[in-house]
Amino acid sequence: MAHFFHTPVLVKEVVTHLVHLPDGAYVDGTAGGGGHSEAILKKLAGGGRLICLDRDPDAVDSCRRRLTAYPNVCIIKANFADLDEVVRDLHIKNINGVLLDLGMSSYQLEKSGRGFSFGRREPLDMRMNPADRLTAYHLVNDLPLHDLENILRSYGEEKRARSIARAIVRARERGPIETASQLGEIIDSANPGSRRNRLRHPATRSFQALRIAVNRELESLDRFLDKIPSLLCAGGRLVVLSYHSLEDRRVKQAMMAWERPCICPPDFPRCVCGRTPLFRRLFKKGIKPDPKEIQNNPRARSAVMRAAERLAT
Ligand SMILES: C[S@@+](CC[C@H](N)C(=O)[O-])C[C@H]1O[C@@H](n2cnc3c(N)ncnc32)[C@H](O)[C@@H]1O
Repeated sequence: MAHFFHTPVLVKEVVTHLVHLPDGAYVDGTAGGGGHSEAILKKLAGGGRLICLDRDPDAVDSCRRRLTAYPNVCIIKANFADLDEVVRDLHIKNINGVLLDLGMSSYQLEKSGRGFSFGRREPLDMRMNPADRLTAYHLVNDLPLHDLENILRSYGEEKRARSIARAIVRARERGPIETASQLGEIIDSANPGSRRNRLRHPATRSFQALRIAVNRELESLDRFLDKIPSLLCAGGRLVVLSYHSLEDRRVKQAMMAWERPCICPPDFPRCVCGRTPLFRRLFKKGIKPDPKEIQNNPRARSAVMRAAERLAT
């Protein structure tokens, strides 16, 4: 494995909002290189413990190496969508806080060799967990035109989804599309216009879409958001860092729904369902990194942090 590197985003803000009880039990559901995990561990007292999860075995190895000095950490290869099973197996009753720092690490993008980045001559893989079956190669080379177009539109919010999907289908008639750079060039060729006028590479959205589809990222997030109210104890905190609107919208809508759980039709004069709020948001607007952090770590520029506290019900 190449050297694992990743600069964590909004570290001070994450730890401040997450760790409210230094002797509590916390979960870093996306441990990556262990940057946030280590900051959380430094804030914990003797009775505190941290469970680190990541679906990528390279991240798990890297965290194990980085966090060897901490006796109160447990590092597990798992999907955060299965957090209920993890805590049951560990016999943990109360979770006081969970962090999700969604998306990919810099290591995955630049050094994993799994074709996450359009500039690289790497196999079209894009699996965060190499034990999963589906790869980007399968999607790009085997999916019917219409399904490919749907993925690019729904997960990449790509306006040119149809012409890109057509260009991919035309190209694969000449032989399989094997590498990330090959796919990057095909997408580029489907986007006429001067490169100088482009704010970002024309393949950015398509690569995001394929990565989300391969790893079923939104499905994992939805499963997690369904489960988390029953996993956090009263006063427990959920902190989520998102990097694109598809994730952030889900997190924001879930937090707003937990805050206002009434399911009565809007034309009812008063509430008859009697449901009480499950969470309160710690702040209404998402927190974004300041210009200095973005200058030092350009990957932070699209980050939005949201946090909510579980209420006693
Ligand atoms: C942005 S990085 C996290 C970086 C980390 N906070 C740090 O300080 O190094 C996201 C990580 O989440 C992992 N990941 C993404 N989806 C996951 C899921 N559903 N379950 C577990 N890990 C996931 C990725 O493998 C990646 O290592």
